[in-house]
Amino acid sequence: MALKQMGIVSDYEKIRTFAVAIVGVGGVGSVTAEMLTRRGIGKLLLFDYDKMKLANMNRLFFQPHQAGLSKVQAAEHTLRNINPDVLFKVHNYNITTVENFERFMNRISNGGLEEGKPVDLVLSCVDNFEARVTINTACNELGQTWMESGVSENAVSGHIQLIIPGEPACFACAPPLVVAAHIDEKTLKREGPIRDLPEGITVAYTVPQKQEDSVPEVTVEDSGESLEDLMAKMKNM
Ligand SMILES: *[C@@H]1O[C@H](CO)[C@@H](O)[C@H](O)[C@H]1NC(C)=O
Ligand SMILES: [Zn+2]
Repeated sequence: MALKQMGIVSDYEKIRTFAVAIVGVGGVGSVTAEMLTRRGIGKLLLFDYDKMKLANMNRLFFQPHQAGLSKVQAAEHTLRNINPDVLFKVHNYNITTVENFERFMNRISNGGLEEGKPVDLVLSCVDNFEARVTINTACNELGQTWMESGVSENAVSGHIQLIIPGEPACFACAPPLVVAAHIDEKTLKREGPIRDLPEGITVAYTVPQKQEDSVPEVTVEDSGESLEDLMAKMKNM
């Protein structure tokens, strides 16, 4: 193992003993889940309430035939094929509702590799403030170490924050600038599923036509724009 030879980790095999919860299986969460699966994590708990849409095809592991499945089911299916030795538990609900918050807390504190033990790490890969605050509240209450992540709208920059409850400072105490400055997060979001790609860049996928008049075929159009035009557009985003 390269990481071991480089002295970055002393006991790589220990990864088999860890349980990690990933909240949000979008751009960040799907890549994170796949990396941990390939590296041989012991157990992965996936939380997301969303369904798979063809617009999610820009995400690493989603496949066209999975459209209509919940995101966590689609993720589990793909990940299990990559590494069947990982124990997967998927949770298809909105963690911010009152009753689901209790279920979420229960899984964080009892859903470890050994049932009844807490998970080892929670990774926040969500795209909204409400869900981040929910994760923060749960982890503060449980003394659970977690990591917060975020990616800018144009996907050019992002942030990661390690939060250990009891050590300064939690997500609520040290919120991102947008929140601290009382900017309404919604004003920063554009509608549409593939909002982090600049206009002119088209997503390359083709929907296989299973039967007549099922899903219409989507084809890729060449934008015909020069690189300079695209760069200029990105600067204005
Ligand atoms: C999730 O639940 C919260 C709290 O009830 C609600 O505000 C939010 O709209 C829900 N999200 C979705 C996508 O249903
Ligand atoms: Zn705090």
